[in-house]
Amino acid sequence: MEFNFSSRMSLMNGTATREIFKLLSRPEIISFAGGLPASECLLTEKLARFAAEALSGADAKRALQYGTTEGFADLRRELINYLDAAGIGNQTPENVLVVSGGQQGIDLVLKSFIDKGDSVLVENPTYLAFLQILNSYEGIARGVDATDDGLDLDDLEKKIRLYGPKILYCVPTFSNPTGKTYSAANRRGLIEICARHGVIILEDDPYGRLRFKGEHIPPLKSFDASDTVVYVSSFSKIMSPGLRVAVAAGPKEIIRKMAIGKQGTDLHTSNLSQLITLKYLQSGELAADIQKSLPIYKLRKDAMMSAIDRYMPEEFIHTDPDGGLFVWGRFNAPLNVKELLPEAVEQNAVYISGGVFYADPALGRSAIRLNYSNESPERIERGIAALGNLFKKKIAEAKRNG
Ligand SMILES: Cc1ncc(COP(=O)(O)O)c(C=O)c1O
Repeated sequence: MEFNFSSRMSLMNGTATREIFKLLSRPEIISFAGGLPASECLLTEKLARFAAEALSGADAKRALQYGTTEGFADLRRELINYLDAAGIGNQTPENVLVVSGGQQGIDLVLKSFIDKGDSVLVENPTYLAFLQILNSYEGIARGVDATDDGLDLDDLEKKIRLYGPKILYCVPTFSNPTGKTYSAANRRGLIEICARHGVIILEDDPYGRLRFKGEHIPPLKSFDASDTVVYVSSFSKIMSPGLRVAVAAGPKEIIRKMAIGKQGTDLHTSNLSQLITLKYLQSGELAADIQKSLPIYKLRKDAMMSAIDRYMPEEFIHTDPDGGLFVWGRFNAPLNVKELLPEAVEQNAVYISGGVFYADPALGRSAIRLNYSNESPERIERGIAALGNLFKKKIAEAKRNG
């Protein structure tokens, strides 16, 4: 039978990462393609204890019953403290919504604002699933150039004048895919420009707490005197992606619209997941647990850096992040990295080719994203050696063929 799917679905190909996940069940494959937190950092026993508490005594009924769309009031109160500790003060329960992962936070902002043909500004390059969600609302992504310390503010203002966007979406701290962080000055500058032009900023911050080096830079939202920023912060990378819990904080009118949108999506975030998160926050142990996880990420990032120095061709120009999960690199050579992926898989190593992270995929033709968080240092070295040999061979061939 032919199924008459909506035209919108034709804009939403399965994302490159999801397709590659199918390969990852083969143990010999060394994956730099994912974006999973280190399995060692999933605190199974602790969370099992909180889950058992949530399903017994006074909490059991509310764990198992329907709940309110905005999320439990006591969890939202804890989240206000959590945001305050990150430099985002003065939040009230009306400014805060519990969402089912950062992904849902993004979806609900776009659902609230985007009509067919509306423009949204994104960094070149940006989180690929953002582009996909935007497609589902038939919005148009417009890329803004980036510099080493953030967005190119001249290009930002130029693109605002050119496209009249409703939203700027960005991942200012340890970005996916680049691992880069916007400086405090850049954050102030982009808020000022967006506020002046009435452009909402959607700040996506799943990685900000995973800093293993350098000075903390507060979220964009903490510089936001004009109520321009909707901030989304997920517990996926610092607690568990499986529980699907994140927080959105923003102007109360926007939070209200998002809550109405959420009613039609999932009614509310899983009560059991909310209660586990609440108990974890109340225990006061999250910050110390994150601290304990950081050396694991640093070790893996350092292993990737030394393997890159040792095995990658000199034409590979890359980032060296102070936190988060990703390294981004570009070949200063005419390599089509997407076409090379099957050969990399034959060498038992996978990466994500850069094109998928751009509003205009041609811009990412010779770029790759490498994830280091969920492989051991030994496997990172082996995988980068395999990729380095492959890329060196291809660059030499390209030079020979003129
Ligand atoms: C930049 C960014 N935003 C959002 C998400 C979605 O994460 P979650 O829905 O698990 O919070 C991810 C996941 O990798 C991400 O990298």
